[in-house]
Amino acid sequence: MTEDKLTENSNHDNIWTPLRSNDISSEIKDLIGDVIEKIPDMPLSVQQIIEKAANSETDLEELVGLISSDPVLVSSILQVVNSSYYGLSHKTDNLQLAVVLLGFKEVRSIAMKSFFARSLGDGEVYEGYDTRQLWEHSYLVSVCAGEFINEDNPQRRGVFLTLGLLHDIGKFALYHIAFQLKEKGIKPKGIGKDLQETQYLLEKEELLFCVNHNIIGSMLAKKWNLSKRIISVLECHHYPSFFDSNGIPSEYSDFEEEISTICISDLIATQFTENSLHLPEPHPHFFEVLGSKPPLENVITPELLKKLEKAREFVKVLG
Ligand SMILES: [Fe+2]
Ligand SMILES: [Fe+2]
Repeated sequence: MTEDKLTENSNHDNIWTPLRSNDISSEIKDLIGDVIEKIPDMPLSVQQIIEKAANSETDLEELVGLISSDPVLVSSILQVVNSSYYGLSHKTDNLQLAVVLLGFKEVRSIAMKSFFARSLGDGEVYEGYDTRQLWEHSYLVSVCAGEFINEDNPQRRGVFLTLGLLHDIGKFALYHIAFQLKEKGIKPKGIGKDLQETQYLLEKEELLFCVNHNIIGSMLAKKWNLSKRIISVLECHHYPSFFDSNGIPSEYSDFEEEISTICISDLIATQFTENSLHLPEPHPHFFEVLGSKPPLENVITPELLKKLEKAREFVKVLG
């Protein structure tokens, strides 16, 4: 663990803490800016599909019309609905039927995955970071986050599903950062070292990429003009593991529920797939925000585990 980053302003005494936006050097900031600049903007059609599919009042034909403008997305949707997971007796090429069978929630997940795969790379593996695993993780976090929201409020539930899908989007951009660093001749401290002993995922990122996915994620969300709610979650979703409520920047203090939900959902999803935690348990304050108390086991119910099992089956279909 790097000694220069030890601090007592945290959840536990003398714990390593992640870099925040203001901590990174201007050289690295410029380099990230260059990388972010090259990542395509989110097309209006994708933004509209994500937004419309989050609204249960949306007209089916309107949504199908929007999807039709994107042939790659149409083929992804048909591929999923014709997969063995749905067990249709005859393959369908009817987009409207496919959207009905999948449901708006799954259509939105497919739209996001399709866009991110095209703009940030799909199936790439770098230093143990695998984009397909990342997508599975994001999907599980979204399912988990949705479970924390009352079913009677589909609109809010939709928002939390989106936050779950997007929360680690900065990780997808880390690959691009790695190539840019190489091009500029910058060798991060951790390259060529055995990082097995590194305690936290964020620490490993900083050693390999000079930055972590929280900082990149929030920069990316700003480029895509995503909402302040999304930016706050992308930037702060791991802060509860390192800081108390004072660690959340005041500009994001309205989004404590979102940050707490995604932080805790992230830990549950990681525990579920890897049987271990990659970060410390959040500060008790963030459990309280969700009406609960530590430890994490208190919020993991058998029903939630069943939903995660089912979600893991589904995500395999997404490829
Ligand atoms: Fe994360
Ligand atoms: Fe995550």
